[in-house]
Amino acid sequence: GKSGYDHYMLKEIHEQPRALRQCLQERVDELSGTVDLGDDIADAVQNAESIQLVACGTSYHAALYAAELFRSQGVPAQAFVASEYVTSPPPHDDDTLVVGVTQSGETADTLSALRDAQRRGVDTLAVTNVVGSTAARECDGVLYIRSGPEIGVAATKTFSAQVLAVNMVAAVMGNGSASHEFVSALRDLPGQVQTVLDETNAREVAERFVDSDAYFFIGRGYDYPVAMEGALKMKEISYKHAEGFPAGELKHGPLALVTANTPVFAVVTGETGSEKTVGNVKEVEARDAPVVAVTDGRTDVERYADEVLEVPETDPRLAPVLANVQLQLVSYHVAKQLGRNIDKPRNLAKSVTVE
Ligand code: F6R
Repeated sequence: GKSGYDHYMLKEIHEQPRALRQCLQERVDELSGTVDLGDDIADAVQNAESIQLVACGTSYHAALYAAELFRSQGVPAQAFVASEYVTSPPPHDDDTLVVGVTQSGETADTLSALRDAQRRGVDTLAVTNVVGSTAARECDGVLYIRSGPEIGVAATKTFSAQVLAVNMVAAVMGNGSASHEFVSALRDLPGQVQTVLDETNAREVAERFVDSDAYFFIGRGYDYPVAMEGALKMKEISYKHAEGFPAGELKHGPLALVTANTPVFAVVTGETGSEKTVGNVKEVEARDAPVVAVTDGRTDVERYADEVLEVPETDPRLAPVLANVQLQLVSYHVAKQLGRNIDKPRNLAKSVTVE
């Protein structure tokens, strides 16, 4: 059941600390500063000269995040929307690894991309939540994200666990030894998600902006996939127009849509590029659009924001997970105010088993 929550989505948002603890369990050792995902995964990722990620929807946003993490380890990595990968398969070589990110392990487009890779003789790894799912059975390797079942159609806790899991994969690329600081940041993440849940003002922000014409989300670097995910969640469950952009793209077109009735959610965490995103926020402010900053306080973006959704400071590779929890809650409360069918949005299915 819903354990007293109004919706499965809200229950699952609140289950995130536990889901993340399960994902970490027996995989990270703070004393030795190691991350251990088993020999099979270590071999697969350490032997990979390049990585192609395939996924759909929310899982594609986790794949975008993963590609950036892997590139930061010096490994060429790119995320593809699975249906596009099938339509136009990119070149690969013998040491390419194809990683399918799929909560259900049953998404037809993603399975099709993985099968396509296998036909071409490429090694595959599934990052999935469902034990014994098709992706888990068919791929050469499998990494379980261990979130527990997700009933709400909108993916929430599985996105957070996917991002945590691929952070561990990135650590394994560096021979499994991460810095002590990073390993303790991993260990602290579930508690920090709890802090966000306990202290959030997302509901007030949702109430203030529920009548808006549209919602825009911007971010750079690791904040970019979170901006995309914030927009997807908003459109899925509130049925309102929402779009996510890389912050730098705003002035290349979308800025024309920005008005006093289109709040812009700026995800501003970490250090890389954050100052530039603050610059974009100033451009938005000059067009009289309300700005909601989702931030760890490392910049002065609050000065230009109408509302602030704060997150605790942590490693820049993890902070966007916390920002995303705030955005999940904003979407939830907007949809709730509008009386939407939050757990079963119109036209959508939990698992899309046709191409
Ligand atoms: C969004 C959502 C979908 C799924 C997508 C892929 O909230 O749930 O966008 O993320 O259909 O599903 P999986 O991860 O099962 O392959």
